[in-house]
Amino acid sequence: MKCLLHHTCMEFFLDTADVDEIREIASWGILDGVTTNPSLIKKSGRDFKQVVAEIASICEGPISAEVTAMDTDGMVQQALELKNELPENVIIKIPCIPEGLAATKILTEKGIKTNVTLIFSAAQALMAAKAGATYVSPFIGRIDDTGHDGMTLIAEIMETWNNYPDITTKVLAASIRHPTHVLQCIQLGAHTATMPTKIFRQLIKHPLTDKGIDGFMKDWAEVEAAGKA
Ligand code: E4P
Repeated sequence: MKCLLHHTCMEFFLDTADVDEIREIASWGILDGVTTNPSLIKKSGRDFKQVVAEIASICEGPISAEVTAMDTDGMVQQALELKNELPENVIIKIPCIPEGLAATKILTEKGIKTNVTLIFSAAQALMAAKAGATYVSPFIGRIDDTGHDGMTLIAEIMETWNNYPDITTKVLAASIRHPTHVLQCIQLGAHTATMPTKIFRQLIKHPLTDKGIDGFMKDWAEVEAAGKA
């Protein structure tokens, strides 16, 4: 189930291969897609294609499945196999290397959607867009981890996109570590953010909401006790 505004505001993706978590967040009605990668598949302990197929049955939005070949032919072959064996909403995640650009172009020409991943510069993002990528995934947290500011990369990419308004590739902010990353990406106009389940929970939670509910419930119990409900 996708959110009703997925064409007009930021798409929210889950970055996990844990189907129980995906089911829980999908039940909120605002989940627009899911990203996986080889490390998340390893963490799930499940068979790659089986788990991606199950995810694709829970969430109708794009589900990224990553190729592991490092040569263009191998990437294209794996992508075609995945597209053949997995549900329609699965898209192909490809690393941002020259071979990946070539594979992205071939797949785009075949009408296959891609997510070019492991992007750490605006130049890489633009090159992936030129190859026809449906999404580009800049990794914020991994840049922060090096002592630099990952959000600067999102700002640079969005500025680039503003300079070339005909680009249709969506900017998918990835490697998100905390809710502020998401808020800053929203302010910069990134099209999509993929985040761990913990961040979804943090984004919806507010102590004043909980306190407000508490107060309303206590007062309502008194209304009921007085037989006035
Ligand atoms: C993106 O699609 C990746 O799966 C992910 O965001 C990587 O995040 P990490 O740096 O937390 O591993």
